[in-house]
Amino acid sequence: YVIGVDLGTSAVKILLVNKNGEVVRSVSKAYPLIQEKTGYSEQNPEHWVDQTLLGLKELLKDFTGDVANIEGMSFSGQMHGLVLLDKKNDVLRPAILWNDTRTTAQCQQIYDVIGDDRLLEITKNPALEGFTLPKILWVKEHEPQIFEQAKTFVLPKDYLRYRLTGQLHMEYSDAAGTLLLDVSRKEWSTTICASLDIEPSLCPPLLNSHDEVGTISLSIAQATGLSATTRVFAGGADNACGAIGSGILEDGKTLCSIGTSGVVLSYEANSDKDFEGKVHYFNHGASESFYTMGVTLAAGHSLTWFKEVFASEESFQELLSEVGNVPIGSHGLLFTPYLVGERTPHADAIIRASFIGMDSSHQRKDFVRAVLEGITFSLHESIEIFRKNGKLIDTIVSIGGGAQNDDWLQMQADIFDAKIVRLTSEQGPGMGAAMLAAYGCQWFDSLKGCADEFLKEDKQFNPIEANVEKYKKLFPIYQEVYSQTKSLN
Ligand code: XUL
Repeated sequence: YVIGVDLGTSAVKILLVNKNGEVVRSVSKAYPLIQEKTGYSEQNPEHWVDQTLLGLKELLKDFTGDVANIEGMSFSGQMHGLVLLDKKNDVLRPAILWNDTRTTAQCQQIYDVIGDDRLLEITKNPALEGFTLPKILWVKEHEPQIFEQAKTFVLPKDYLRYRLTGQLHMEYSDAAGTLLLDVSRKEWSTTICASLDIEPSLCPPLLNSHDEVGTISLSIAQATGLSATTRVFAGGADNACGAIGSGILEDGKTLCSIGTSGVVLSYEANSDKDFEGKVHYFNHGASESFYTMGVTLAAGHSLTWFKEVFASEESFQELLSEVGNVPIGSHGLLFTPYLVGERTPHADAIIRASFIGMDSSHQRKDFVRAVLEGITFSLHESIEIFRKNGKLIDTIVSIGGGAQNDDWLQMQADIFDAKIVRLTSEQGPGMGAAMLAAYGCQWFDSLKGCADEFLKEDKQFNPIEANVEKYKKLFPIYQEVYSQTKSLN
């Protein structure tokens, strides 16, 4: 067996996976967000550790096999969150998370000091509020007494791994989201550190996602019931692990993942492309490769919001059962999903969502379909950027909440004008983490070999020509809403 631990934003999900890639047990344990002010989003790293230990204990509660057969463990984690440690590796302040937007001034500072072009050349990414470097600069400016004590910074799952093993590292796929990594060269950027007066020693040693860091420490083995022989592998960013867990491991493979936020992600064999910073460009969890990714901040979140406000008594299934009865275009109703601002393509933390074209004949089902169409249009903006930069996107694996409804999957095929593939038992980033452990334990000689064995296709949804044409006419109108509503916010 191997264990995949996915340290998410709302919960840690732990999977026990056997040699056939079957999830034999899974446990999820939640922890709270701390939101002291508008735009702030923090978590207490101790909660991650406590809940993971509880989860592991529960996972093994009725396990009748020999725990020594749990050969390996690896991690997937929410990206970008800043965990600052002192010289004893104790946490100095709550972690500042990826969805915290307090750092607009620090992003500007990064552009002013480094320059847009130079930043893009080194990090392959723009300076966004969610990334780690602006958070480091924020603490430096606003909490100098804390920053003075900082010896190292790590990302959420790196801290968790440290607490389980006593070994402190970061790996490339998550380091890529800090804005401190030279993404092509796979080394910390001395230029960026020097320009912003950050001690290079703040940056921890780097590893590949499948590299072994050691074994579970004795005290953790005792606390959880795991064997102290369980080997621990570095793991990856949740999006990199989502890609691994969906088989996005070679050129031509693309993923659409709709959870709270939505992601369109495509494999890149090397780092020679330049998307002008319009989409992210990160190191993959499969070593020596990359992926490019666009993010819709409120994807599933838009639907959850709608359900909570207008249909709190119903299940998602009931709510979505009406969607197939509404024609394409939702009888002229259009939704832009900017409930919490937007990342791709606008990088605009201020913009807010709209319903455009409301008519007294509209029913609730028109609104539901408009919400799904708006989310999918937003994700299509990322696909359009990929295509404009020469990427062939003809097949997309769809996972997450967006893959649980056939009408929505057909909508994705029609809006993206691509074949959509659903997997039989998709497990997202947790499965990617388990696959990194399986590969690390040498069950397979490549991650691709592991994916061929572990992942199975369920159903395909092909674009319907007439629908594609209709959506092609609606998409520019959707795009226009951003520029027309921007000045109102
Ligand atoms: C990626 C990002 C999110 C987090 C969510 O850039 O900010 O997808 O990784 O966990």
